[in-house]
Amino acid sequence: MAATDTMTVQVVTREGQQLRVPLEEGHATLMHALYDADIGVEASCGGCAACATCHVLIDEAWVDRLPPRRPEEDTLLRFQAHFDPRRSRLSCQLDVEPALDGLVCAIAPEE
Ligand code: FES
Repeated sequence: MAATDTMTVQVVTREGQQLRVPLEEGHATLMHALYDADIGVEASCGGCAACATCHVLIDEAWVDRLPPRRPEEDTLLRFQAHFDPRRSRLSCQLDVEPALDGLVCAIAPEE
């Protein structure tokens, strides 16, 4: 099933606002959707797992439904001040796929 505009994720912004962000055609990863929503995800490395400005905290209920962190993602996240061993993910490393529909996450505080 291709990503469509009927798929959404629920996002809590740094200001505490709860938003529904669409996952649309052309959004290869969750980072692309958050970036397009213009809600504070800089994604300054463009998705290379090199900047951590796409850091999100996954809702506890969703953590085990996602694929595990790859080593490069894990290494970068462990250097972040707001690293949460269970909930931290780089949104650029989460591919948009049907299993992501309804995901709940929060944008991590700025470093
Ligand atoms: S966009 Fe830079 S690490 Fe994800």
